[in-house]
Amino acid sequence: MSETPVYPPSPEFVSKANVQGLEAYRELYRRAGERPEEFWGELAEKELFWFQKWSHVFEWNPPFAKWFVGGKTNVCYNCVDRHLSTPRKNKAAIIWEGEPGDQRVITYQELHRLVSRFSSVLKSRGYQAGDRAIIYMPMIPEAAIAMLACARLGITHSVVFGGFSAEALKARILDLGAVIVITADGGWRRGKEVKLKSVVDEALPECPSVRDVIVCRRTGSETGMAAGRDHWWHELDENASEDCPAEPLDSEHPLYVLYTSGTTGQPKGILHTTGGYLLQATMTVKWVFDLHEEDTFWCTADIGWVTGHSYIVYGPLSAGATTLMYEGAPDTPAFDRWWRIVEKYRVNIFYTSPTAIRALLRQGEKWPAAHDLSSLRLLGSVGEPINPAAWEWYYRVIGKEKCPIVDTWWQTETGAIMIAPMPGAVALKPGSGTLPLPGVDADVVDFAGNPVGADQEGFLVIRRPWPAMLRTIWGDGQRYKDQYWNRLPGLYFTGDAARRDADGYIWVLGRVDDVMNVSGHRLSTMEVESALVRHPAVAEAAVVGKPDEITGQAICAFVTLKSGNADHATLAKELRQWVAHEIGGFARPQEIRFSDALPKTRSGKIMRRLLREIVTTHSVSGDVTTLEDMGVVTRLAAQHDEE
Ligand code: WTA
Repeated sequence: MSETPVYPPSPEFVSKANVQGLEAYRELYRRAGERPEEFWGELAEKELFWFQKWSHVFEWNPPFAKWFVGGKTNVCYNCVDRHLSTPRKNKAAIIWEGEPGDQRVITYQELHRLVSRFSSVLKSRGYQAGDRAIIYMPMIPEAAIAMLACARLGITHSVVFGGFSAEALKARILDLGAVIVITADGGWRRGKEVKLKSVVDEALPECPSVRDVIVCRRTGSETGMAAGRDHWWHELDENASEDCPAEPLDSEHPLYVLYTSGTTGQPKGILHTTGGYLLQATMTVKWVFDLHEEDTFWCTADIGWVTGHSYIVYGPLSAGATTLMYEGAPDTPAFDRWWRIVEKYRVNIFYTSPTAIRALLRQGEKWPAAHDLSSLRLLGSVGEPINPAAWEWYYRVIGKEKCPIVDTWWQTETGAIMIAPMPGAVALKPGSGTLPLPGVDADVVDFAGNPVGADQEGFLVIRRPWPAMLRTIWGDGQRYKDQYWNRLPGLYFTGDAARRDADGYIWVLGRVDDVMNVSGHRLSTMEVESALVRHPAVAEAAVVGKPDEITGQAICAFVTLKSGNADHATLAKELRQWVAHEIGGFARPQEIRFSDALPKTRSGKIMRRLLREIVTTHSVSGDVTTLEDMGVVTRLAAQHDEE
């Protein structure tokens, strides 16, 4: 590892940082490890508002955890109300820009008004703590307002990414038993309207639990409204009361369920609860993004993914930050749209994904060069390992060699960032998430759960429960146990391969299970395979992630047909469209390969790792670290397959 460049924080950055110097980090880490209850208890008291204090910090009934047991709090109150008695009252909470160029700046006081009104609407229609709501919206402030209003009343929400199809939406509504859907007529993406309401209309006939659909008007296009079921947000809002206090909720009250891909065809509903989740989301904003009062914080994720939950809405607002939200695509109207926004709003902290960086890098330096990016002081990355070429470009062209890059490793399941540098404390090594955060007992182990030595590859695990961890899989405690805790008994199994270098830095190499990472989005091979075999022409399908320079992995499907005499080109097109319809456009396979048979073990299991090797060794291209390490992942995956 000797040739790995190391970037220590500049003295100037350290002098203003929330955590200054490596010793300060080590001290926090040591305290959190030695006395976790005291450590988290003190932070919970200092950093969050509680209606009622907890009786004890932590209860562990393996593998089920409770944090701040008996405590009563409210996530919305912490994100909104508590700032009103401070100088943040008229500070911008949300700065929003729509793709067409419209803009809104919503102060904390205004956010309180909007959230209270929408909470009143929900309450007056009879919704209350324990109910479940689906939020299927574009990136507009009302998406955040809907989340916060649900949290205010204790309605458990599940945000479904706007790119999911009616089939996928329906599956989530049914699994959750949702009683209400909050949506919009549509949103803008690359100059076109993404019609969300019509997708809802397609999904709902088979969802008898849903009583109401609330529709926010965004695009103003023609939208059919089912009498009795569908209501315009702005009409309900007209008479809404502004007085709708936050409910004191149990610290373990279910805040949200977010569906993510596992290793089967069925997505799993990851459950996050209240107190522990919010505490770690808040702390990581302060530790990792080094949030200062005057910062404008921009996370480019969609609110439909966990990154949007924790780092557009809950973390930044709880910390009293100004959070920026942008509706549309980075290339609309041109490839400098993001840099235009950075310049216009003087963004200080910018958090995005390697796939986006690679896509922008490809367009050349002239786009960022045309804008004043001098407000930036910290950059972040999430979603997959960042390859050296993308890191270097991000550092030099966007950060002008003065902004640390925080490479943040975490998952939907972890709720908050787990492994990342505290930028005023930890020296960076491009491609590494560096060191685990306080309270995160991360390790790299072998097949038997024993730690491997320095620079050895193994499975990334977490040894001890942490406040923001998932509590279970919605409606399926057994799957929760099997998936995360029974594989390497007593350890939380992340599904990732990693190695730790001699300095203790963790290098995440990729997934070891049948989960693909396409543009930072998780998709299981089984999910795409199940969609394919539902097509009448398909006999069998095997799907693998194929290396891709921009998206990290692209979906490659090997398909055998029921009858041999089909027109392959037409059918390939049809199958790609079919998957988009079954799951969503982002799951459309890049490539369909027709084959007479698929490689199988003697017991009839498809040997995906062979297929993975076929697609990997074909197109490994220079600078994408994930690809170079694919061999490791394949080996570890093989070890895992043989289990
Ligand atoms: C991958 C996104 C390397 C990893 C927050 C993980 C990463 C999965 C990184 C979770 C990173 C995420 N370096 N790999 N900085 N961040 N991953 O649930 O494989 O959408 O298990 O959560 O993305 O994806 P998810």
